[in-house]
Amino acid sequence: MDSLLSWLFSSEEEELNMLYSMACLMVFMAACTFVTLLFENVPYGRYATSKYGFPVNVRFAWFIQELPAFLVPLCLVFWTSSAKTSQLPNQLLIAMYFCHYVQRSLIYPFLIRGGKPTPFVSFALALVFCLYNGYMQVRYLSHYAEYPPHWVTHPCFIAGSMLWLVGWLMNMHSDHILRNLRKPGETGYKIPTGGMFEYVSGANFLGEITEWAGFALAGDSIHSLAFAIFTTVVLANRAVAHHKWYLTKFEDYPKSRKALIPFLF
Ligand SMILES: NC(=O)c1ccc[n+]([C@@H]2O[C@H](COP(=O)([O-])OP(=O)(O)OC[C@H]3O[C@@H](n4cnc5c(N)ncnc54)[C@H](OP(=O)(O)O)[C@@H]3O)[C@@H](O)[C@H]2O)c1
Repeated sequence: MDSLLSWLFSSEEEELNMLYSMACLMVFMAACTFVTLLFENVPYGRYATSKYGFPVNVRFAWFIQELPAFLVPLCLVFWTSSAKTSQLPNQLLIAMYFCHYVQRSLIYPFLIRGGKPTPFVSFALALVFCLYNGYMQVRYLSHYAEYPPHWVTHPCFIAGSMLWLVGWLMNMHSDHILRNLRKPGETGYKIPTGGMFEYVSGANFLGEITEWAGFALAGDSIHSLAFAIFTTVVLANRAVAHHKWYLTKFEDYPKSRKALIPFLF
């Protein structure tokens, strides 16, 4: 990995500039995605269509597309010279990232029940995103990010870490509720109940948005902020789309339930 990086970049300054440019590009892509999603839903799950390529088995798709988000950072932390992995804030932020992606790439795909096949284009875009973001987040944290002394006791780090934890637990709990709506072999949809689903249709998405917003607050970098913005754009769209879909599909759908933000939106 070191020789690949030194082949790609002539100096550390060049790599750091590249990481900064990648974060800016991600913010730009989030803006483009926001506009595109005004006209179309993210095409997988209940919105999957053959227009976006041949169907890929859902477990295979989730496992392969998320794997780079775990493997690339693993190589960066353990098999690449990384100057900042001895620092406590960097260690804690990298640990937060890994907690999420160990679950998402190695566990979540094998728990899915009756999920719709993923169109190839959605699968390929998710894979590229995971590779891009995995490198950007963890290379920055493992080799470049410098935090002031005592950053882990700074209110931003403490509040961000708490938000990250609450969001991560909410995301996993909500995904667990969704999964258990189906008995083995079933593929249809039911009204989710319990947990944050009592308040919003996109409880799993609210959890994930909260998680990466907390990570951005604790990480205090354009790289983590770009990821939080991109996640919010994609998942807020999905929460609103699911909410509208439930209202048309189920006459008895709870009227007080909001799309993404309890009591508000
Ligand atoms: N960070 C990011 O940018 C990002 C992007 C996308 C997803 N994610 C995360 O990945 C996870 C999955 O996302 P997703 O978009 O696939 O979520 P989703 O649309 O809520 O679907 C999750 C799973 O639950 C099933 N399901 C959903 N609603 C159901 C219902 N009412 N009754 C029965 N089964 C239901 C779906 O089956 P079907 O496939 O049959 O619909 C799918 O297997 C979430 O935790 C999300 O936060 C993160």
